[in-house]
Amino acid sequence: MKSSLRKESVSSSEEFQYHHISGRGIHGLTLSLSKDFRKDSERPNLDEWSSGPAADEGVKVSQFSAKNPYFSMVTENTLLNGEGATKETRHFVFTLPAEGLDYKVGDALGVIAENPPQTVESLLDCTGWEGDMVVKSHSGEKTLREALKTDYEIHRVNKKFINSMAEKSLRQSPGARARIVSRQRTSMTDDETVTWDWSGESGDWPQGYTPGSSGDGPAALLSSLVEDSDAMENYIWSRDYIDVMNEFGTHHQAEELLALADKLKPRLYSIASSMDAHPGEVQLTIAIVRYEHHDRHRGGLCTVYMADEVEVDKTPVKVFMSPTKSFILPEDKSTDIIMVGPGTGIAPFRAYLEQREFDSASGRNWLFFGDQSHKTEYYYSDQIESWLQNGTLYRYTTAWSRDQAEKIYVQHRMAEHGEEIWEWIDNGAYFYICGDKNYMAKDVHKTLIQIAQDHGGLSLEDATHFIEKTLMREEKRYLRDVY
Ligand SMILES: Cc1cc2nc3c(=O)[nH]c(=O)nc-3n(C[C@H](O)[C@H](O)[C@H](O)COP(=O)(O)OP(=O)(O)OC[C@H]3O[C@@H](n4cnc5c(N)ncnc54)[C@H](O)[C@@H]3O)c2cc1C
Ligand SMILES: NC(=O)c1ccc[n+]([C@@H]2O[C@H](COP(=O)([O-])OP(=O)(O)OC[C@H]3O[C@@H](n4cnc5c(N)ncnc54)[C@H](OP(=O)(O)O)[C@@H]3O)[C@@H](O)[C@H]2O)c1
Repeated sequence: MKSSLRKESVSSSEEFQYHHISGRGIHGLTLSLSKDFRKDSERPNLDEWSSGPAADEGVKVSQFSAKNPYFSMVTENTLLNGEGATKETRHFVFTLPAEGLDYKVGDALGVIAENPPQTVESLLDCTGWEGDMVVKSHSGEKTLREALKTDYEIHRVNKKFINSMAEKSLRQSPGARARIVSRQRTSMTDDETVTWDWSGESGDWPQGYTPGSSGDGPAALLSSLVEDSDAMENYIWSRDYIDVMNEFGTHHQAEELLALADKLKPRLYSIASSMDAHPGEVQLTIAIVRYEHHDRHRGGLCTVYMADEVEVDKTPVKVFMSPTKSFILPEDKSTDIIMVGPGTGIAPFRAYLEQREFDSASGRNWLFFGDQSHKTEYYYSDQIESWLQNGTLYRYTTAWSRDQAEKIYVQHRMAEHGEEIWEWIDNGAYFYICGDKNYMAKDVHKTLIQIAQDHGGLSLEDATHFIEKTLMREEKRYLRDVY
């Protein structure tokens, strides 16, 4: 099956700004990207989700959902990294009910996490709020302790709360305000307003202004956060409600915090298993998010919950399925597939390979995988070795980014094998990407276009049209699950 290459002009590319928030701050990046490239999955909008009444464990329900989740048990939690690794990636096995929660490879599992009890207790301690008092949460009446544990994202403070804190603080001390807008600082006191262009150097203060005076106090800091969106992002990036209460004091009632905090949202995970290969189970590959800020260990809500709070065979975990319509295997089992899945991006491809093995699919399977080091990140090595032995994997191409001085990424390996990749695609192969959306997927996409130019003899315009229109939209052979 030869692909049809069109000579028409390519859909216009769109320039847009986005902000990647890094551990140190916010970097504004300008990217050139086509509209189609951003249309990756048809997953549900989890922002719209709110936890409904919990499902009764004893009641048999035929349909599980985010609002009516299944209480699953984790039967395995295994560290995939070798000794000396700088990251923590885990394999989880969950139980499934006899019916009502089937999945196909390519689907994702939704997990509804809870905040760690020690975070809840620390918040109650520092605010003096009574944990046993009954409050009205978005999911009904319950104790404050329970609401903080199950219903809100208390591990990261949000802008709404800082804005509210600033309003309260200004009402209490209206005289002390300072505003930093870009490099200009305005100081307002009861008697006078002074505006000057601040060079950014300490010492460049106007006459009579002393840093550290009332203008640099908590009210001034809150005011500057409200005025400067970059400063706000930087501030909330590394803080939770405990940090904020400790810094500014408790000026809110518990119910006010509940009205301002973000509702706890489920997290999605690409399923890493085939149900045919593992009846009654669903398996995930999860990178645990851990970091330290302001002398406290912190981390991602769901990943830390899964790694630290959920006890194997003991803690019920709320889950539901998030099926995909598009990130699927080709119907024709003789079709070749190329899969690019560095890091946790390997998850759905492990599932695909288990399925292709179960189906005895004759199409060839080529996996590009990359991570930091062969020694510590060769995930699922035994299974991969056996697939290479029995032919399930036709080829396994790796990019160990930190095993040499210069970075080697999956797209570099793709470029090295460009001629063969082009041959596969030109002969009808499907091309899949899973993993990091912000950097990896964009670089792999560009490399694919470059391969179409170098080995398909296409101009940049035609190559872009072929990859983004023909392969992706018309033939639906270029499929992505990126996050
Ligand atoms: C369709 C889909 C499939 C996915 N599949 C997988 C998968 O197979 N495996 C997997 O591991 N993940 C997967 N994810 C990502 C997953 O859903 C979660 O986003 C991820 O696990 C983090 O969740 P969390 O609750 O632990 O972290 P959150 O509480 O949501 O926090 C994560 C956020 O923490 C912030 N952060 C990170 N580092 C720092 C730092 N040093 N300081 C301050 N803040 C920081 C970042 O803003 C980051 O976005 C998938 C996502 C989608 C949408
Ligand atoms: N959008 C998101 O929020 C998102 C998406 C994916 C992962 N993550 C988070 O990142 C952490 C680890 O994720 P992960 O284990 O899946 O792996 P990962 O961080 O995506 O890294 C996997 C491999 O990709 C490499 N890499 C880095 N930049 C790349 C690029 N531009 N092109 C190609 N490869 C690149 C990494 O190399 P080096 O590290 O050596 O540079 C590493 O070898 C987790 O905390 C996870 O939650 C977040």
